[in-house]
Amino acid sequence: MNTNQGRVAGKKILITGAARGMGRSHAVRLAEEGADLLLIDICDSPAGLEYPLSTEDDLNQTAQLVAAQGCSVVTKVVDVRDADAMKTAVDAGAAELGGLNASVANAGVLTVGTWDTTTAEQWRLVVDTNLIGVWNTCVAAIPHLLEAGGGSLVNISSAAGLKGTPMHTPYTAAKHGVVGMSNALANELAAQNIRVNTVHPTGVATGMAPPSMHQLIAEQRPDLGLIFMNALPVLMTEAVDISNAVLFLVSDEARHVTGLQMKVDAGVTIR
Ligand SMILES: NC(=O)c1ccc[n+]([C@@H]2O[C@H](COP(=O)([O-])OP(=O)(O)OC[C@H]3O[C@@H](n4cnc5c(N)ncnc54)[C@H](O)[C@@H]3O)[C@@H](O)[C@H]2O)c1
Repeated sequence: MNTNQGRVAGKKILITGAARGMGRSHAVRLAEEGADLLLIDICDSPAGLEYPLSTEDDLNQTAQLVAAQGCSVVTKVVDVRDADAMKTAVDAGAAELGGLNASVANAGVLTVGTWDTTTAEQWRLVVDTNLIGVWNTCVAAIPHLLEAGGGSLVNISSAAGLKGTPMHTPYTAAKHGVVGMSNALANELAAQNIRVNTVHPTGVATGMAPPSMHQLIAEQRPDLGLIFMNALPVLMTEAVDISNAVLFLVSDEARHVTGLQMKVDAGVTIR
């Protein structure tokens, strides 16, 4: 039994893309504050990406890190693009944990290209994962939040979900879509005490690092480099900074916060 008295003590929280990167950081931060966790990841690399995604070892390592905090943890290997598999996994995971109070739709992928090199396959992969995958996550979680009398949906967008970030247009479009979807859900679910918010990170050093991105800016479009520059004097932010925003939004400290686009972006969107 978890005796942690932290800021989300006793809350049962679903996190997608939890095997590594920011998903792992969210899991550890929420576990430190007393949450029990349902961790989902694809643990496989779909075709069409320039960089590998996570492995089952990564997911197990996240589970070990959070279990060390004394929380209950359930892991499931699921592709967020598969709505039926998400529903089955979240239903089973919630049953194992004894319910669900919140979800963090964090899984995402990034492809790179200028307008004339971006392919239909890239559009489908990115929109399927970063937009429809977030929808699938919300829809799988909502019945359990309703059963709990309310809850919190946190959808991870990006600074690219608020500005016209170039050279990965499907990503920028999908991340803007997450905002519209989240605001619509926030309206639809407010009466049932379910809050829906988005988080907008600037660059964070994770495995999401397609090599051609920097090459493209440096070699072909240095004129666009300024769009990626933070206002604060930091090149990137750290995963835990984003996790602290997620922690606030799932906690009761944010009980009257819904429809918020929470920027943790070192000021990149004011440029
Ligand atoms: N790293 C950044 O600079 C940055 C900036 C802004 C927003 N984000 C967003 O933050 C989130 C986390 O990204 P990260 O930087 O930790 O990247 P990451 O690649 O390190 O982690 C993403 C995780 O999602 C998983 N995943 C990918 N597709 C999946 C699918 N179909 N089903 C289930 N799991 C899947 C991967 O296996 C991986 O474990 C993403 O939504 C990303 O778009 C990242």
